[in-house]
Amino acid sequence: MLRIPALDLPPLQGADGTVHLPGSKSISNRVLLLAGLAAGETVVHGLLDSDDTQVMLAALAALGCGVRRVEQAGRETLTHITGLGGRLRVSQASLFLGNAGTAMRPLAATLAVLASTQGGRFELSGVPRMHERPIGDLVDALRPLGCQIEELGTPGYPPLRLTGRPGGQLNTGEPIRVRGDVSSQFLTALLLALPLATGERDIVIEVQGELISKPYIEITLNLLARFGIEVRREGWQRFTLPCSHGASPYRSPGRVDVEGDASSASYFVALGAIAAHGGAPVRIEGVGLDSIQGDIRFVDAAKAMGAQVRSGPNWLEVRRGRWPLAGITLDCNHIPDAAMTLAVMALYADSPTRLTGIASWRVKETDRIAAMAAELQKLGAHVEAGDDFIEVSPPTTWRTAALHTYDDHRMAMCLSLAAFNPLVATAAPPSLPIRILDPQCVAKTFPDYFESLLDLAQARPEDVPVITIDGPTASGKGTLAAEVAAALGWHLLDSGALYRAAGLAAVADGVLPDDEGGVAAIAQTLDLRFGQGLEAGRTWLRGREITHDLRQESTGLLASRVSALPAVRAALRGLQQAFRRAPGLVADGRDMGTALFPQAALKVFLTASAAERAERRHKQLISKGIAANIDSLRADLEARDARDKGRSASPLRPAEDALLLDNSHLSIEASVQQVLGWWQQRSPFALATAGDK
Ligand code: C5P
Repeated sequence: MLRIPALDLPPLQGADGTVHLPGSKSISNRVLLLAGLAAGETVVHGLLDSDDTQVMLAALAALGCGVRRVEQAGRETLTHITGLGGRLRVSQASLFLGNAGTAMRPLAATLAVLASTQGGRFELSGVPRMHERPIGDLVDALRPLGCQIEELGTPGYPPLRLTGRPGGQLNTGEPIRVRGDVSSQFLTALLLALPLATGERDIVIEVQGELISKPYIEITLNLLARFGIEVRREGWQRFTLPCSHGASPYRSPGRVDVEGDASSASYFVALGAIAAHGGAPVRIEGVGLDSIQGDIRFVDAAKAMGAQVRSGPNWLEVRRGRWPLAGITLDCNHIPDAAMTLAVMALYADSPTRLTGIASWRVKETDRIAAMAAELQKLGAHVEAGDDFIEVSPPTTWRTAALHTYDDHRMAMCLSLAAFNPLVATAAPPSLPIRILDPQCVAKTFPDYFESLLDLAQARPEDVPVITIDGPTASGKGTLAAEVAAALGWHLLDSGALYRAAGLAAVADGVLPDDEGGVAAIAQTLDLRFGQGLEAGRTWLRGREITHDLRQESTGLLASRVSALPAVRAALRGLQQAFRRAPGLVADGRDMGTALFPQAALKVFLTASAAERAERRHKQLISKGIAANIDSLRADLEARDARDKGRSASPLRPAEDALLLDNSHLSIEASVQQVLGWWQQRSPFALATAGDK
């Protein structure tokens, strides 16, 4: 997939509407591992589809589990896992686990135990940052059991090699001691893996030091129970896994429903608290206040800052309450991930916000305390940070900024909320775009986060940047516009398609292409749908797919006739302008720069000789297996050019401030780079990024 280097968010004015949350990462990866260890098949509903679950699925497949994704037309994809029943199917594997702590720690414990008792040799590695995230406390807990673990890089960190011989015994007579004050994932890893070693006796795990992030342990215990393992606990210090009398202890419940991700919900709870000021709430579907995920307690903190929250089974509704928000002081030990969102809400408060108990931020995807401090300061906030706290005072003067995301999904999602700066309650509120660098790092847990956010957010049309690309038929503007839009992460308007569809609709209704009133009436209520996501590139008219018909030469000629009628052009105006939505629009056609978007920030006019264009169109048709004659193609092109240029309504001509691009001898790639280069020169971030690498 194309990696977009930056996403510019225009200043955003408000938000309402419904978001459907992706599945919880913590629940998804725990369920996958448990299903992989149990016997038989588990069908997982609502599994998160993201980088971190992909690596877990790939690891399970490499270990011999059955992994099947079943797409159901129009509904969620189901994941079928056939587990190992506690018996290794492969004795060697090298598993790459990206930056997924929820895969690395539990798989390390599981494979250490399996290799020690059944024999095997397994290597676990990840991206460079994964090799900086500690695992030594888990290794120290496993070694006294008799597990053979080699640290292949820096001691205390992945990559790891886990080995053992068949028939090995584990020393489970003594309590297993693990530190609880660096990452709760070490205890989770032991709790998930050690049922494999419960033969004729119970296994006891003792936590040393104060256990952090207890709610994550509750998720682990809850899911273990669903797989038939009832862990007894005494406070948060001592956990006992019951003996299994030699049988495989994990029993699949058959079906598991994964809740929406409560940490991901925090961005939309914050969105409601900041931006749902018009009456309608931000509605979040996938989690309710009865969630088993600890991060749902973020809602209490958001309420303390001013949010108004209602909840029901699996939903939340959030509106702005107090405004500006109130600064708070909070020990965030119980909501380590969602607490980051409070640091950004603090920008909208009328007093400082101090978050404590967040030392674990330093060993997450990045050093989140340092990262958050650096980026919020760029926006103008005053930030103080220490080993385990951060204090954010809202900016007195907001600044626009290109914000780094540190390959950390939560940094990207949090920082996006700074785009609501026009809502700041001062006499002269700022109205600044912000730039999110490497926005696709959100794929770790929420691949379509920005689409979801921008679906709910409102921007003033004049704040949404537009690039227009006009030019004659077959000049390559469609391809160029699509590629520029993809590189910027913007919406695309192929205005020719609207005239084509209007022509097709007229023919279908028996209206002649020169019946101005008739065609205009049809154009006015054109029921047209462009596919998004997996359906990108496909088009439906009145519910019928017209993708193929739309691209026919005959349809182009039809479009050129109906588009010459002023009433038809007027009828399609509103529909075209509605494409101007955040974060931006690339519009291609004949009059995008002259008539539709005269204020566009960048206007490009493509020129290429008729001979060159005829040749391109010829190649295109031949490659699709359509017979074509180059001379008649050229004659058709010239006729269409003449009609487009000669008509009274919006004749084809470059806007006065358009930049001309003769692409007769340029590759598509070179043309794309040229347009992106021009855009970069005009963007408010041109200087900010240059000095900010
Ligand atoms: O760009 P495309 O070939 O799809 O456009 C089909 C026809 O629609 C063009 O030949 C032109 O006459 C008309 N058109 C227009 N104004 C636009 C886009 C297309 O008149 N903005």
